[in-house]
Amino acid sequence: MLIAGGIGITPIRAMAHALRARGTRFALHYAARSARETAWAGEIARELGPRLSTYFAETGPRLDVEAVLRAAPADAVVYVCGPSRLIDAVHAAAARHGAAARVRCERFVPGRRDTDAPIAVELTRSSRRVDVRPDQTILEAVEEIGVTVPASCRNGTCGTCATKVLAGTPEHRDRALTAAERDRAGLMCICVSRAATPELALDL
Ligand code: FES
Repeated sequence: MLIAGGIGITPIRAMAHALRARGTRFALHYAARSARETAWAGEIARELGPRLSTYFAETGPRLDVEAVLRAAPADAVVYVCGPSRLIDAVHAAAARHGAAARVRCERFVPGRRDTDAPIAVELTRSSRRVDVRPDQTILEAVEEIGVTVPASCRNGTCGTCATKVLAGTPEHRDRALTAAERDRAGLMCICVSRAATPELALDL
């Protein structure tokens, strides 16, 4: 049983290829925000056919981890890669269905470090404040309170989520922005970058 969330599809897809080449029976459950943002969706669908199930948060239905684990064969080994929330949900569901010892996981958290601290972020244009937990990105926290930010790669490589910093000091972890964009334009990629100060104010 392969379960991938977002860009976690990268290693899971390679596993699917290896299992297919070996003739091993498997199913791949792939959850992402939308078909539009999904890496290689069409290609994977062609490669895997009915072994692939996709779930898009924007249009639904969402991946029901509980149902997937409940329906898994009793000896299934579960491989999961994706955001911490997905991995935690798989571990919890596996524990309820006697599969705790058969879960293998890889946490894909771009730019995340164990030492990450919470950040208090003020969204100046929206007149909102949001507390970013250490286990989530600024982008995730902002989206959680319903503020929409354009985003694509969500791993700091495309620059779509670049946001102007109005106060505080960002800790840049992206690979998209130039030094001029960071220093002169005052932008940060909120999908991966964090803060060197406990608070940030963003032009959102
Ligand atoms: S969404 Fe691509 S850099 Fe943030």
